[in-house]
Amino acid sequence: MAAMSKQWAQWQPNSWRSKPIKQQPQYEDMGQLDKVLGRIKSYPPLVFAGEVDNLKRQLAGAAAGKRFLLQGGDCAERFQDCNPESITSKLKILLQMSVVLCYGARRPVVRVGRIAGQYAKPRSSDMEDIQGQKMPVFRGDNINSFEPDAEGRRANPERLLHGYHTASMTLNYIRALITGGFADLHHPENWNLGFVGKSEHRSKYERVVANIRDAVTFMETFGGVREESLGSVDFFTSHEGLLLGFEEAMTRFFPEKSRYYNLGAHMLWIGDRTREISGAHVEYFRGIENPIGIKWGPSADPQEMTELIKALNPSNEPGRITIISRFGHEKVESHLPIAVEAVRKGNCNVLWSSDPMHGNVIKAGNNIKTRDFDSILSELRSSFRVHAELGSRLGGVHFELTGENVTECIGGSEAIKESDLVRQYETFCDPRLNYSQSLEMAFVISEILAQNA
Ligand code: PEP
Ligand code: CO
Repeated sequence: MAAMSKQWAQWQPNSWRSKPIKQQPQYEDMGQLDKVLGRIKSYPPLVFAGEVDNLKRQLAGAAAGKRFLLQGGDCAERFQDCNPESITSKLKILLQMSVVLCYGARRPVVRVGRIAGQYAKPRSSDMEDIQGQKMPVFRGDNINSFEPDAEGRRANPERLLHGYHTASMTLNYIRALITGGFADLHHPENWNLGFVGKSEHRSKYERVVANIRDAVTFMETFGGVREESLGSVDFFTSHEGLLLGFEEAMTRFFPEKSRYYNLGAHMLWIGDRTREISGAHVEYFRGIENPIGIKWGPSADPQEMTELIKALNPSNEPGRITIISRFGHEKVESHLPIAVEAVRKGNCNVLWSSDPMHGNVIKAGNNIKTRDFDSILSELRSSFRVHAELGSRLGGVHFELTGENVTECIGGSEAIKESDLVRQYETFCDPRLNYSQSLEMAFVISEILAQNA
């Protein structure tokens, strides 16, 4: 233990550079990379430290059962989606889901997008074979191009500048939509509820929608609530803190608090592949003030995970750590109870969230990566049940989704089949729930929350 505290002594935004690191691109020209990072360091932050603190308070509320976390967005956000239609549709589905969840949970929902910076991906191999040609894998728009040609797949530092600008434009538009009254989408008459008609749960969903409509109308009639609260909502951004050079450049000292913040997003998470306690990612994350998500998959050792949580949150501050479990529907029942008990034994103050996406990737017959709506739902139901049985609380959910009518995940009320996947398969990485599947998921979770409330 003594050796350990010594190891943790000196933190600097760049102290991760002396630790072993995983999942980084190989740049050919390190001088060019340094130049780009120097420029990004000189740019204004994307978010403000006070907003980060506010999110941390809200997450502490979720851990205490007073709020519920909804985190969602693309697996890999694309530069080309920095356009009004795409941003609007992502915000719309997240806001609508949050209304449905709020209705069931009877608690405010904390909305966190995987948006405005989710441009770097961990990959299982460095190279891939495309039509007989070996080339570097796509690592996210911040690093290389999705197009399968050798030049495009080269890691290009200039893309980081593009990433900064694209995140900044995206967030600027989100802020404009929200302050401009876009949250009027609280009104269910603006929703595309076509799928409800196809669902076996049609009458249940229609009742929820009617109740939400009544509640909104009542509040507006009752006393101008619309202007003050219904029309403006909090919305936060998040991404995986993977590319540490970029994250270091977005790390700023906040003199009022004598603390460092990553001001490129409100929340960052550590992926399941980069969470080694002695590695560079953990070293970077322990020094920033932001709320941190930690992915917890089946390969994680519960004892090491509690050590990791303590290393990242030595003062056990509420709201600092969100555990995002992602075991898969077949493993959740055996792994989650052990995880919950380990964290409890360590007396760690955490918010538990469930990512029912990353443990449930399957290959469809046509070799396309997909996820089954029913497996996703099954992991979620199990997670709620395990927490409840152990006297713990699932306080949030984490989805890969989009507001578009893509065909990437199978199932749901529209009964998307394997043969439908080719129709509109757009993701650059993992398959996402589409608009209807996402909204339907929100209805089901809302019902579970209402039963547990
Ligand atoms: C992700 O969230 O896109 C991801 C890669 O998740 P994980 O680290 O849980 O595999
Ligand atoms: Co993913």
